[in-house]
Amino acid sequence: MSRRKEIVTILKDPQIGERVTVKGWVRAFRNNKFVALNDGSCFKTLQVVIDSDVISEDIIKRVGFHACIAVTGKLLESQGAGQAVELQADSIEILGETDLSTYPLQSKKQSMEFLREKAHLRMRTNTFSAVFRIRHAVAFAINKYFNDKGYYYLHTPIITGSDAEGAGEMFRVSTLDPKGAPIAEDGSIDWKQDFFGKQTNLTVSGQLQAEIGALALGKVYTFGPTFRAENSNTSRHLAEFWMIEPEVAFFDIFDDMDLAEDFVKYLINYCLDNYPDDLAFLDSRIEEMEKNMKKELRRPMGLIDTLKFVVENDFERITYTDAINLLRSSKPYKKGKFEYDVEWGIDLQSEHERWLVEKKFKKPVIVRDYPKDIKAFYMRMNDDDKTVAAMDVLFPGIGEVIGGSQREERLDKLTKRMQEMDIPEEELSWYLDLRKFGGTPHSGFGLGFERIILFITGMGNIRDVIPFPRTPGNAEF
Ligand code: 4AD
Ligand code: MG
Repeated sequence: MSRRKEIVTILKDPQIGERVTVKGWVRAFRNNKFVALNDGSCFKTLQVVIDSDVISEDIIKRVGFHACIAVTGKLLESQGAGQAVELQADSIEILGETDLSTYPLQSKKQSMEFLREKAHLRMRTNTFSAVFRIRHAVAFAINKYFNDKGYYYLHTPIITGSDAEGAGEMFRVSTLDPKGAPIAEDGSIDWKQDFFGKQTNLTVSGQLQAEIGALALGKVYTFGPTFRAENSNTSRHLAEFWMIEPEVAFFDIFDDMDLAEDFVKYLINYCLDNYPDDLAFLDSRIEEMEKNMKKELRRPMGLIDTLKFVVENDFERITYTDAINLLRSSKPYKKGKFEYDVEWGIDLQSEHERWLVEKKFKKPVIVRDYPKDIKAFYMRMNDDDKTVAAMDVLFPGIGEVIGGSQREERLDKLTKRMQEMDIPEEELSWYLDLRKFGGTPHSGFGLGFERIILFITGMGNIRDVIPFPRTPGNAEF
């Protein structure tokens, strides 16, 4: 047998006349003669030509949709349109047959919901293989961006004793037996006897520990899984998702916004430059889906045009107070079309964010200076004593992709805020120490990894951009 070559290598630099072996899965089989073979190495398939004088009928019969085969043959210039090279098969070995009578993916038009239940097979489809190659691309680009700029990758803990966001939406980590947990004198569960000698949970954010890193290494980032036990059954929420959190000493909120904008544009550009085939397919997929939709329901631009538009234009920057004023003078507000009321102090709802991004500015918007009462304890108080130096980056079709802030570096203001919000100082004494010993202004943000993948791939549901989604009621695979 000749050397196995990956399809990506063959297509990049076809060596006409070379004898090769390729291994992969059959994406299509036409006229008992033409196989579109994909091995996952790239979006494109290699055309394999089967001559019934050379390959036995028995073998040809077993070359079915999504069967796994090895083909040895000669690379020839292709006569057909759409490819420069094809593989004329000398021999075919069936590595794994697919029984189409029971194969769940035998029809090509399965719904996304159905495919989610078949997460062990969905990666064989064009759509999901493209999505997961893009997911890899973005993960790689994240590390490249920060490394090139001199940031250090800090691994923050997954099991923690603190609730960084103060939202109380945490998964408990415990080895105590729920039936016979030890009881303390006051009748509550005696967590001192638990594995870590205290209550612990899965982290909701690596930020507080990233601040430790920033105040020693200057510029750091975390990139890891985060967990939120919020009962949100939406197309934008996961119970287990990945977050990228840079944290930078000496940065104020404006430096933070500049970093956020530059960073997401870099990630999008990286995909445009390096994964054109996958993006072109995802683009055409949406176009196909929207073909029969009413014009108002279609996206205003194709996927690739949208991505280019976002990298080529400045994000709009407004304050929360401006946002509220704009919303209150908007048509949908005046006509009573918003489901939620708009007044200063509310948390912006998705319908409000989408109006700002999709209707008013028609581009990504960074909203800053939110009311202190709707934001976390660590955000830096502004001089008005009502708002904090927080910023959210809002994207079309998605809403919030980034949430960040300048951190409160003034010890007295921080402890006052913690008291007001009932956050026990003992548990965060180390966090306060960062203010007592060599503290300085610093800022950071969190980018929701799956949310940016959702945007770049144009997929409609966050469960379709993570290999094995965890959501309320669902932890299969
Ligand atoms: O806005 P969040 O809650 O911010 C933080 O956790 C800060 N500690 C970040 C920081 O300043 N270092 O979350 C950050 C981002 C959101 O903007 C959103 O994109 C994503 O994380 N996110 C979720 N993604 C998927 N599923 C969920 N349940 C998410 N919750 C937040
Ligand atoms: Mg947020």
